[in-house]
Amino acid sequence: MRDIGRERIKILLGLAELEAKKPGMGRAKRYAELARKIAMRYQIAFPPEYKRRVCKKCGSFLVFGKNATVRTLDKAVSIKCGGCGNIVRIPFTREVAWKRRLRMADRTCGKLREMKEKGASADEILKEAVRLIRGANSKFNWTGIYLLQGDTLELHNYVGRPTEHTKIKAGAGVCGTAVAQKRNINVPDVTKVQNYLACSAETKSEIVVLIRAPDGKILGQIDIDSDKRGAFNERDEKFLQRIAECVGRIIA
Ligand code: SME
Repeated sequence: MRDIGRERIKILLGLAELEAKKPGMGRAKRYAELARKIAMRYQIAFPPEYKRRVCKKCGSFLVFGKNATVRTLDKAVSIKCGGCGNIVRIPFTREVAWKRRLRMADRTCGKLREMKEKGASADEILKEAVRLIRGANSKFNWTGIYLLQGDTLELHNYVGRPTEHTKIKAGAGVCGTAVAQKRNINVPDVTKVQNYLACSAETKSEIVVLIRAPDGKILGQIDIDSDKRGAFNERDEKFLQRIAECVGRIIA
């Protein structure tokens, strides 16, 4: 019985797909409803390619871009039914989310390289880099790039609350320490760091990733503050490292 059910479901969903191409989506919803009834009656799963194609609330057959919208969020994909407005969130697995972030880093690098090829100045590229990094993660509340001039870090540009720390000597604060110790620094709790230079009372954690020229020379850093405690993990560092490397290559 279940085999017949499975077969019927496939046929009905195929018909729904055809009907959905007609104006007003024809009888797509009707076919989808029948398929769903059989699936429920015999406890059969929809074929994977149709799993997300029927709204669980109103039963509409969903065609993405027509009566349904798909949004890619930080940790999930959300599908919204245009008929009843129901939203289904499908969380990514950690691995999928991580691969997505790596691709995002590569896309960012691609955009910056393209700007350079089209003749954009280093200033413009650094501004765009900050804008793109900020947009990559909602926990990146303050995002900026400092450039190292002699033994002083100078704030090039940022997105977030204004800061008075526009010049930081190597060795001072988290930023200067990263330069002095020639390493990235991840601070899960800024209240635990003695020489921390507060940029805003809201900040709870901070990460600094060095920007280096291909020969290893330190050119500056990406600095990010978060209002969340312990906001940054190893993957955030790797993500930022990828972008820092390409920025380094571009501005060296
Ligand atoms: N917190 C940094 C200073 C920079 S601001 O956070 C933007 C530090 O301790 O070096």
